[in-house]
Amino acid sequence: MRDPIQTSPHPEEPRSGVSKDAPAFSVASTTILRDAPDGDPQDEGSRGERATILDVHGASCRFEVSQPWLARVVSRSPRRVLRAVEDISFKVERGTTFSIVGESGCGKSTLARMVVGLQRPTEGSLRFADITRADGTIGPPRVQMIFQDPYASLNPRWRVGDIIAEPIRELKLRKDEGETIARVGDLLEIVGLSRGDALRFPHEFSGGQRQRISIARALATEADFLVCDEPTSALDVSVQAQILNLMVRLQKEFGLTYLFISHNLSVVRHMSDHLAIMYLGRFVESGPAEEVFNHPRHPYTRLLLDTIPDVEKPNRERRPMSGEVPSPIAPPPGCAFHPRCAMAGDICRSERPILREVAETQLACHFG
Ligand SMILES: Nc1ncnc2c1ncn2[C@@H]1O[C@H](COP(=O)(O)OP(=O)(O)O)[C@@H](O)[C@H]1O
Ligand code: SF4
Ligand SMILES: [Mg+2]
Repeated sequence: MRDPIQTSPHPEEPRSGVSKDAPAFSVASTTILRDAPDGDPQDEGSRGERATILDVHGASCRFEVSQPWLARVVSRSPRRVLRAVEDISFKVERGTTFSIVGESGCGKSTLARMVVGLQRPTEGSLRFADITRADGTIGPPRVQMIFQDPYASLNPRWRVGDIIAEPIRELKLRKDEGETIARVGDLLEIVGLSRGDALRFPHEFSGGQRQRISIARALATEADFLVCDEPTSALDVSVQAQILNLMVRLQKEFGLTYLFISHNLSVVRHMSDHLAIMYLGRFVESGPAEEVFNHPRHPYTRLLLDTIPDVEKPNRERRPMSGEVPSPIAPPPGCAFHPRCAMAGDICRSERPILREVAETQLACHFG
């Protein structure tokens, strides 16, 4: 049995009581309560494996950040290349959540933008596999992005009904205007708002409610794959938990696949099937979420875990995250984490550890 919702009543509570039966967790609690997501049996391989929906292979993204040519020649400064994402490979299985966690500036949003096609990779490939939908159609998944800032991502001059209806009209997903309006009402209720909210403007809603509107808009496109870039970072902790609960419920109901990005490990703890820890453009540890949480091997993963409040051990000493993320223009030689790593040895300063298999996980550390 699941715990009851561990969030306090809050003015951002949706007006309809959708969160009552949602899978519940709090952002700071410690036990993984989430059920394995229900998948479409059609998408499971012969050995009960889930089908790969996204295959990222050796993806890198570098930005040229040099001064203009003339200024560079006059000042004799060299060309400067910022390595935002370096040689990243991973697979996402349909109906699951793949989470990527790392501090600000480590390349998470650049990777997210590459996945949705807003940023070209400098090297490598990102491929979506064709999927079979519930209506029998086969094709590439519909991919949508949910952004951190619901204030900026909704057009303030449009009524909420029009914001949600726009992709339905553009993609001609409903026969006529009557069906479109009915679908908008259904979507508002699905995300815990009311049908009447269609007539209101974004500024009339709180942050959490606006993020619900963003989710309704993504669902309006009949998306299969949602790239969620820090979708709860701008929200209060109690509201964060409500939005995460909603996302988990929607995943189970509609078989959605999430690529979920956060700088906060506690946010992704309860909704991840697979977890990758990113540092300065690279994955340093990745594997099944429970394994990474329960047996963190990389010193950076341990440091991130140490910063999470533990409700079962409130008196546990928490180490603050020390030091700054180095510049991706001039990354430290060897292991990029060595200036902040308590375990660093000589080899760490000269040789970059490559990702290798350790138990069920992949790890980039000389001593892990
Ligand atoms: N278009 C761009 N041009 C130059 N540098 C960029 C661009 N986009 C991102 N960066 C840089 O790439 C690095 C990673 O950024 P980002 O992907 O936004 O990280 P995160 O989302 O993890 O905070 C940062 O140093 C950022 O300044
Ligand atoms: S390779 Fe060395 S510096 Fe890097 S994380 Fe491992 S022990 Fe620390
Ligand atoms: Mg970002």
